[in-house]
Amino acid sequence: MSAFPDPEVVRRAAAEAGQDQVFRFWPRLAQAERRALAAQVAAIDFPLVNRLARELVTGPAARKAAPAGRVEPPVVFGMPRTGAERALFREARDRGESLLRAGRVAAFLVAGGQGTRLGFDGPKGCFPIEPAAGRTLFHLFAARIAALGKTYRRPVPLLVMTSEENHDATLRFWADQRYFGLPPWNLSFFRQDMLPAVDDAGKIILESPGRVHTSPNGHGGSLSALAKSGALADLMRGGFEELFYFQVDNPLAEVCDPLFIGMHALAGADMSTKVVKKTDPAERVGALARMDTVPTVIEYSELGEDRSRLRAPDGSLLYCAGNAAIHMLRVEFVHRVTSDPAFALPYHVAKKQCPAVNDLDPAAPPLATAGYKFEMFVFDALRHARATTALEIDRAEEFAPVKNATGVDSPATARAALAARERRRAAAAVAAAGAASGAPAGPA
Ligand code: UD1
Repeated sequence: MSAFPDPEVVRRAAAEAGQDQVFRFWPRLAQAERRALAAQVAAIDFPLVNRLARELVTGPAARKAAPAGRVEPPVVFGMPRTGAERALFREARDRGESLLRAGRVAAFLVAGGQGTRLGFDGPKGCFPIEPAAGRTLFHLFAARIAALGKTYRRPVPLLVMTSEENHDATLRFWADQRYFGLPPWNLSFFRQDMLPAVDDAGKIILESPGRVHTSPNGHGGSLSALAKSGALADLMRGGFEELFYFQVDNPLAEVCDPLFIGMHALAGADMSTKVVKKTDPAERVGALARMDTVPTVIEYSELGEDRSRLRAPDGSLLYCAGNAAIHMLRVEFVHRVTSDPAFALPYHVAKKQCPAVNDLDPAAPPLATAGYKFEMFVFDALRHARATTALEIDRAEEFAPVKNATGVDSPATARAALAARERRRAAAAVAAAGAASGAPAGPA
């Protein structure tokens, strides 16, 4: 059997799907370009792409629907106030620590996104974020993983999801950095799937005469990527029970925080979420809520201005549980959903500028055209969980995402948050040392 798909077969499949425009430059392609295009197109799930185009772009129901169903605020564990709550938090922390000591927890970093808003040329994890030492996002997470291994005397495996766009560059970076001192056998890198973007008419976009424009299928693609890559089977073989899921863009993420692990485990939850209190209704974070009693995250664009401004009698925002995009996932839950043929996360559509081949001058750089990208969101798995829990975190300690090049959620704001946290921790360490030696704590 040939390693290359038969171009005739692939072209027929594209034609049957009404997508044969992707082969319109075929006569002028060199042999190698033809092979590459045929291989890329052979991997496209045409029924899926055509269904998404119909449902989300061209069809009559393609308009963005407001969330349907009865929406209510979620149930969240806030900072403990009563003795009973403090006892519960202590028990949870102990439980999390014992799971870490027993080697039952792995860390899962999703880093397959494109980082377009940051405008950084390269995988986002390679962005130097630390104020003084300039360590990169990847470096900070690796240091945290190393520290966990020392504290709990069990190495915590780190799984990193990349995408076709940044996989090779990510691997090269980690290898060049000698894996930041982590044992390579304890690291695993795997790709999520890609999906083609379509135009207004639902036609797949070519970015150059021999290449379809594709983008990662959203962080919801992480669940099937875990299964397809074999990482999930490895976790199960290794006796891992829990996955700590976090995004590459938050340098403050308290990776494998034992309190969160323990709250999730004590609740017998399949999936749990950390939330940050929204103080500004316009903040661009998703809101954890309940829809017809089922926990869900409603994206900022879908919550609606009116609902996002609603206030409780005490004046606080009603939908203030901002999704910090940090989750616990039970390994068994990921296995259950990914091995269920009926399981599917919904796709969301985003209209973005996409590079498109210039038909009048195909050799020229691509033009920017309006295209539609399809993505799954991991938090949509919440509705498949038999039990969930949510824990509120202190924003100053754990959440300062790097999304934009300047302004809010930028390297400048994240660096300020990192520096402030460092100062607080240094002061607390001095105070603790003073208390231990009997000297009075306080400024010298
Ligand atoms: C996301 C959440 C939002 C949350 C906020 C917190 C969505 C749709 N919304 O917003 O609810 O409040 O983070 O910071 O996610 N990624 C992949 N593969 C992909 C797409 C993204 O690995 O295909 C990764 C990125 O590398 C990044 C993260 O997911 O680490 C976030 O993705 P992004 O699309 O930037 O989400 P936001 O809109 O910022």
